[in-house]
Amino acid sequence: MDRIRIVGGESLNGVIPISGAKNAALPLMIASLLTDDTLTLENVPHLADVEQLIRILGNHGVDYSVNGRRQAQDRGYSRTIHFTARDIVDTTAPYELVSKMRASFWVIGPLIARMGEARVSLPGGCAIGTRPVDLFIDGLKALGVEIDIDGGYVNARAPKGIQGGSYEFPKVSVGATHVLMMAATLANGTVEIRNAAREPEVENLAKCLNAMGARISGAGSETIIVEGVGSLSGARHRVLPDRIETGTYAMAVAMAGGDVMLEDTSASLLESALDTLRAAGAEINPTNSGIHVRRNGSGLEPVDVSTDPFPGFPTDLQAQFMALMTRAKGTSHITETIFENRFMHVQELARLGADIALSGQTATVRGVEQLKGAQVMATDLRASVSLVIAALAAEGETVVNRVYHLDRGFERLEEKLTRCGATVERLSS
Ligand code: UD1
Repeated sequence: MDRIRIVGGESLNGVIPISGAKNAALPLMIASLLTDDTLTLENVPHLADVEQLIRILGNHGVDYSVNGRRQAQDRGYSRTIHFTARDIVDTTAPYELVSKMRASFWVIGPLIARMGEARVSLPGGCAIGTRPVDLFIDGLKALGVEIDIDGGYVNARAPKGIQGGSYEFPKVSVGATHVLMMAATLANGTVEIRNAAREPEVENLAKCLNAMGARISGAGSETIIVEGVGSLSGARHRVLPDRIETGTYAMAVAMAGGDVMLEDTSASLLESALDTLRAAGAEINPTNSGIHVRRNGSGLEPVDVSTDPFPGFPTDLQAQFMALMTRAKGTSHITETIFENRFMHVQELARLGADIALSGQTATVRGVEQLKGAQVMATDLRASVSLVIAALAAEGETVVNRVYHLDRGFERLEEKLTRCGATVERLSS
């Protein structure tokens, strides 16, 4: 299993290109199931999760080609991929595939809308809390879908198609919003989705669906209205920049010090995180093509943070920000409100010398003078990159084990950091 070796102490200076967003690419790829025409997606990041979803979609009959070729290039750069679901050959998403990635459960939306039936295994994915699917089920039921759960599978049937209707989420869910929106595109009538997730990835998906002929308004706000249409066509759409990757590198610069231009991204995707970083002492300046991040030698200020659905501080940056606060000139409090078990990085940060106490959903982080390199273990996607950030400022050598988590969500991480002067290398085994 690959490991990553980092020698801390170098500042970061240079340019980091930001990739297309994993969390936008996945639902966009799934949307290809809604039409027998070709959906072309540009700026698809080259990540393990994307490759896994390609396999899952292939199981349903989705054909794909990368820049006109059948084989994926293996250089690790974002690509243009054409997806064509001419015929859906299977409406079952089996456990073996869905258990590897939670987002693959989302195929239930397009499958039920286009085929009137879907049988999808209950999901797996990152071990960060129970992550149930009740909101998906209640939402689909409100649109006339009959659902039962049997043997670990969700069996959904809509013999007369998706019906118009209204559903208010009792809790904001990104995935359930994606699914309801996709299912509603082919509804008989109009669907109103209230208390919808407002994440930029939801807006990006709606934009793509509209380019395919859907009639969606309000995406990005709390209420989304979808007027059902008879069928969707192909389209060409660009995956938006990855705001989590953007925030992660901004935090890496704040941690290590230096001067980096984050390119091909936009500050509007992560205002709350950038404001937090400014409060911690980083200099953040949005430009036309990205974000300029600097921090000189001065110490970091402690800042309290609570995660929230967009436009709040993203849970996917919580671990990285905690890494940063381990070196602050005082005590900060970090509260996780989205997932119940998203503090697995705490133990590993402690191995590097961090002083963190957990009480319920709040971590109290007392800044220390210096972290020291050690062997650590990546436990989920965002936790693993928080260890990389901590290691950049730790004295000596850190080895991060189980880096397959990183490969799920960060394109060419070692290369991007090395080019800015960090000592980061992959140890293959
Ligand atoms: C997506 C992101 C993930 C991010 C999360 C929150 C992708 C591929 N993943 O995950 O990186 O951390 O949004 O911003 O885009 N919930 C229920 N019942 C449900 C569905 C969800 O109780 O049926 C709960 C979850 O357990 C969690 C909360 O709702 O506590 C938010 O989860 P949700 O927004 O659905 O996360 P994902 O879409 O899985």
